[in-house]
Amino acid sequence: MPTPHTPRIAVAIMAAGQGTRLKSKYPKVLHEVGGKPLLAHVIAAATSVVQPQDVYAIIGHQADLVRKAVQGTGVNFVLQEQQRGTGHAIMVCREALSPYEHVIVLSGDAPLIAPETIARLRDFHLQKKAAMTLLSAELANPTGYGRVIRKSAKGDDVKAIVEEKSATPAQKRVREINSGIYAFTIKPLYAKIGSLKTDNAHQEYYLTDMAGVFARAKARVVAIKTANPAEVLGSNTRAEMMEIDARFRMAKSQQLMSAGASIFFPQTCVIDAEVEVGADTVIEPFVQLLGKTRVGSECRIRSYSVISNSEIGNNVLVRPGSILDDARVGTGAVIGPYSHLRPGSDIGEGAQVGNFVETKKIKLGKGSKANHLTYLGDAEIGAGVNVGAGTITCNYDGVNKHTTEIGDGVFVGSDTTLVAPVKVGNGAYIGAASCITEDVPEDALAVGRGRQVVKEGWARSKREQLAAARKR
Ligand code: UD1
Ligand code: MG
Repeated sequence: MPTPHTPRIAVAIMAAGQGTRLKSKYPKVLHEVGGKPLLAHVIAAATSVVQPQDVYAIIGHQADLVRKAVQGTGVNFVLQEQQRGTGHAIMVCREALSPYEHVIVLSGDAPLIAPETIARLRDFHLQKKAAMTLLSAELANPTGYGRVIRKSAKGDDVKAIVEEKSATPAQKRVREINSGIYAFTIKPLYAKIGSLKTDNAHQEYYLTDMAGVFARAKARVVAIKTANPAEVLGSNTRAEMMEIDARFRMAKSQQLMSAGASIFFPQTCVIDAEVEVGADTVIEPFVQLLGKTRVGSECRIRSYSVISNSEIGNNVLVRPGSILDDARVGTGAVIGPYSHLRPGSDIGEGAQVGNFVETKKIKLGKGSKANHLTYLGDAEIGAGVNVGAGTITCNYDGVNKHTTEIGDGVFVGSDTTLVAPVKVGNGAYIGAASCITEDVPEDALAVGRGRQVVKEGWARSKREQLAAARKR
């Protein structure tokens, strides 16, 4: 029996445009929604339908910047040096697409598109044996989009796509819009793409005009409507982009909630796509969880905390207003309020970091505490250590950074400065307000401060002196 023929299908992503309507110095497709660039979302959708080596990103405006941002995905790039319209973008792909039979065209500015919808479009296109199949959507407000003009109300066949700017008042009332997402059969596409003209408002080659070109040549053009109109929303303006961002965030919160997390007022939280949150963890309003952050189970992340690329164990309490950046927090630890954990902070199991404490590149051992007004940088701190209020590791000599080592069970008195490099042995005790410049042996007491002087009656006689002077 002959094996059924599997058609060779490529995906082309139009991403060469400038995005004039954004008034930005950065290219449109690198603007971020849901914590990553528009184009990265579209590539993710494309590569869940075909292999990365069959995906072609069409780049042009600031091409190097765009390429750099997404080249890790393994897709190919086609350069559209001058951006002369969506039709022109596909013209320049002719050679790259020559090994394929069909191409699915996605828009680099429509990041909500679901892989299942792309697959449905592909299957419909193959089944109808169409030259062009377009994904359409019924929008309550179709303003700005191209309108789909069908041959008849019932059938699948399309006569033309009319852009907003050239639509008649009657055509503007059509609510079925062109998503900018298509499937084409390669042969007829390149046989006919030369017929595109630039006699339109922007003097560009519109890919949308292929519908009319094919219809006039009696080649089949069909449309399939998405069941979820939101997925084709384009981000042409900042306002549209923020609407799409809100949809991503809400979808992410909902996914985390269905996996067992509670998120209060999710519309106030900003949670990036790759964040993980364990069951029975509570996220309070106005929390941001960014990048590759992982939060364990039964934690509580209190309001106004911003946590990026950090790993948080189970049963951790992050009190309000804490900032964590590239940090690790062990099970049962308590952070905040107002703690700042900078990159390389590794907070041990059950440890506590409190009000106005800043840490950087440190290890704070199991059960150790630094609860108030402290800076700990480049330090190895053991277990069961008490770091008193106002302690500072002086890690920088103006040229180099040096390390402070503090053993297990050490008691660091309040207002201590530890001038690195310096070592404090296990079980040592440092008197308050000490400036420690030399190593402290195990179980020793170190005091490094001026002796207190008391002068009996001094204040009273000073007051009397001043009062007498005022009378004169
Ligand atoms: C396009 C469609 C419109 C559809 C809408 C859906 C055309 C003429 N119109 O309009 O019918 O309703 O999408 O969102 O196609 N691009 C290039 N090279 C170019 C020009 C554009 O790669 O020379 C890229 C852009 O970077 C963008 C995509 O193509 O990612 C779409 O271009 P855009 O200018 O956003 O088209 P719309 O006006 O939204
Ligand atoms: Mg657009």
